Amino acid sequence: MRKKVIAGNWKMYKTPDEAKAFVEALLPLVKGHTRNEIVICPSATSLSTVVETAKGSNISVGAQTVHWLDEGAYTGQTSPKMLTAIGVTHAILGHSEPRTHDSETDERVNLKLKACVKHGIHAIVCIGEQLEERQQNLTRDVLLAQLAGGLAGVTPDMADNFVIAYEPVWAIGTGLTATPEQAEEAHTIIRTALAQHLGEDVAAKMRILYGGSVKPGNIAALLAMPNIDGALIGGASLVAEDFAKMVKYEA
Ligand code: PGA
Repeated sequence: MRKKVIAGNWKMYKTPDEAKAFVEALLPLVKGHTRNEIVICPSATSLSTVVETAKGSNISVGAQTVHWLDEGAYTGQTSPKMLTAIGVTHAILGHSEPRTHDSETDERVNLKLKACVKHGIHAIVCIGEQLEERQQNLTRDVLLAQLAGGLAGVTPDMADNFVIAYEPVWAIGTGLTATPEQAEEAHTIIRTALAQHLGEDVAAKMRILYGGSVKPGNIAALLAMPNIDGALIGGASLVAEDFAKMVKYEA
């Protein structure tokens, strides 16, 4: 059985005060919940606040990106060493927004993934096709290329340190969710490719999350699919009550 991961990606929303209020509202709602893993990824300015507020709870805290070096002359960047120093345990890599706006590439995802492994940060490695690629029947090719690039040189012993998130770009923030069948088809392609890269056993254990307009009303149907092992949730993760509903969704 793969334990499901319910992760909130807050993107560029919430000040530290708003983040604190969210966690204070969420804590009683998910108290004692152990069935699914809970991760919140606030923006950089709220990481410390969320770590402090969630301390001792079942909530883990992730960054939305990370550099691959420990330190250096890289204005604007945050290193894995800096994140672990403040209690951050997870990081999102390869999200389509930085792929579009901030020159995130498969090569960089690969460097960052290896840096996360080195520092014991759990990476959420995002991959996914654009609408035109799906329309041209290229979904499979895109997923295989992103996996090959992102996982180059990654070995089976690193596999406990990351999960994959399938995020079709056309479904992110659009309200257009992949159907459970579309998502399952992509997840099956990903799991088969993981078996080729890292072996059958590792692939069978690897969690593959779905992301793209997940909401309280559609999470159960998506996560009922055999190869969907969690959700990476943007917009609908911003309200504590909604996020709690998704953490505790009933199968
Ligand atoms: P969304 O975002 O849930 O708002 O579509 C998902 C994501 O970008 O991870």
